[in-house]
Amino acid sequence: ARRRIIAGNWKMNMTPSEAVKLVAELKDLVKNDDVDVVYCVPAIDIVPVVEAVKGTNVNVGAENFYIEDKGAFTGEISAPMLVDAGVKYVIMGHSERRDIFGENDILINAKVKKAFAAGLKPILCCGESLALRKAGTYKEWIERQITWDLDGVTADQVKNLVIAYEPIWAIGTGETATADQAQEVCGFIRELIAKLYDDATAQAVRIQYGGSMNAGNAAELLSKPDIDGGLIGGASLKPDFGKIVNA
Ligand code: 13P
Repeated sequence: ARRRIIAGNWKMNMTPSEAVKLVAELKDLVKNDDVDVVYCVPAIDIVPVVEAVKGTNVNVGAENFYIEDKGAFTGEISAPMLVDAGVKYVIMGHSERRDIFGENDILINAKVKKAFAAGLKPILCCGESLALRKAGTYKEWIERQITWDLDGVTADQVKNLVIAYEPIWAIGTGETATADQAQEVCGFIRELIAKLYDDATAQAVRIQYGGSMNAGNAAELLSKPDIDGGLIGGASLKPDFGKIVNA
């Protein structure tokens, strides 16, 4: 059986002092030894948050990194820096990075490979726009994203991968995909992994849903056979996150 993984994506929220307060506020609420709990936090919050979660069940993730180890890349942080700071997971392929910062599947593919090589677990995001949802071509879109993003990634690596299905129309809009809509695509992603790799890999890869997930809708989404967890934005900054962890 796959272990559930509930990750918060704090996005560009929480100053370092606010971050430490939030971790303390959530500490008892997110206790659950049967679930992987991850806080993906802004780069400047990583060091204090790693310190603040010591001795708890929470792991820390990064929201971004660059594929080179070091050098003349003003403004960037590297995978070895994240590892040294105690980071275990890193998000890549988020629609905000694709759309606002122009990241394409070639870079995202390089990030997947670099993260694994450095010892970080990637949380690889995919998802379609409202236009593609309405056009009915969303599965083709997601197949293309994942096929590109995993080019040259091995089956053993994919077994340790987390894929987050985040329909763009559901992110920050309050409009959650229905549990059936989310299951349809998460099931499709698992079938795609079986096609690209094999059944054992497809059964091992963990697939999250993300997009307006909250304390009220988490249990139904997580009851679906191919939804192994959630990637949570807004609700990860509130006590509600504890309810999602324990949904
Ligand atoms: P919301 O939960 O705020 O809709 O954000 C989802 C998301 O983008 C997580 O990565």
